[in-house]
Amino acid sequence: MTSLTLQAAGAACVWLANLPRGRRRAWSRYRPWNLLKSHAIASRLVDGDAVLDVGCGTGHMLAQLSLFRKIRPHGVDLSIMSARFPEIPTSTYDGRTLPFDDQSFDATMLCYVMHHLSPAEARALFQETVRVTRRRIFLIEDSLPLFGPLYRIRNRLHRIEAGLRYRDFDAGYQMPQDEAMFKTHVGWRAWLGEQPGVSVVDVESFADVSQHDHHTLIDVRLATAG
Ligand SMILES: C[S@@+](CC[C@H](N)C(=O)[O-])C[C@H]1O[C@@H](n2cnc3c(N)ncnc32)[C@H](O)[C@@H]1O
Repeated sequence: MTSLTLQAAGAACVWLANLPRGRRRAWSRYRPWNLLKSHAIASRLVDGDAVLDVGCGTGHMLAQLSLFRKIRPHGVDLSIMSARFPEIPTSTYDGRTLPFDDQSFDATMLCYVMHHLSPAEARALFQETVRVTRRRIFLIEDSLPLFGPLYRIRNRLHRIEAGLRYRDFDAGYQMPQDEAMFKTHVGWRAWLGEQPGVSVVDVESFADVSQHDHHTLIDVRLATAG
């Protein structure tokens, strides 16, 4: 599987290098690893799906999903950092109440967001996400089957470094006090399994399709999906 993925990434690079200059510039907005991650999510969606990205950053995940599926995208975040993907509709919100009606979206993504929150904030944001979603929630998280001591130190440094950065961007952001929301695969299954509205939780390592072994897809199916 790993060598197949590397071959696919290699073929994609050759294909990109051979594109005429204008089209190559358009594709250089995307990173091969992120394309592979987006493809894994796109394969779980259908054309026409309304997809929300909570904590969307630049909106790059929705832009990449749109290459594989005809989705109706929307991104929300505390603040929108740049207009790198002007084709993706985005808006800001208060970080607590998602400004959408119940079940407005077929699927919602939370990519590298939950580990920046305290457990109480993560629970509240996840419940808001369940409220606005009809079928599926995709989390991408830094996670491994087990955390060794060095990885725990890495998590602490990441929490502090990213926390200071987000506080500079947004006065409303509060850095969590500990690493409680950095969870192992088993930890995510247990935590999500306890959240109201959740029916099935699948955890899949992105080790084969990402430059980092700890990148992990967590696919949550909701009870409302039937
Ligand atoms: C590591 S960045 C990930 C950005 C993007 N999802 C990606 O995959 O590149 C974490 C994001 O979470 C956002 N964030 C933090 N607290 C949030 C909250 N309560 N609701 C929504 N987004 C939040 C930050 O503003 C930041 O854009």
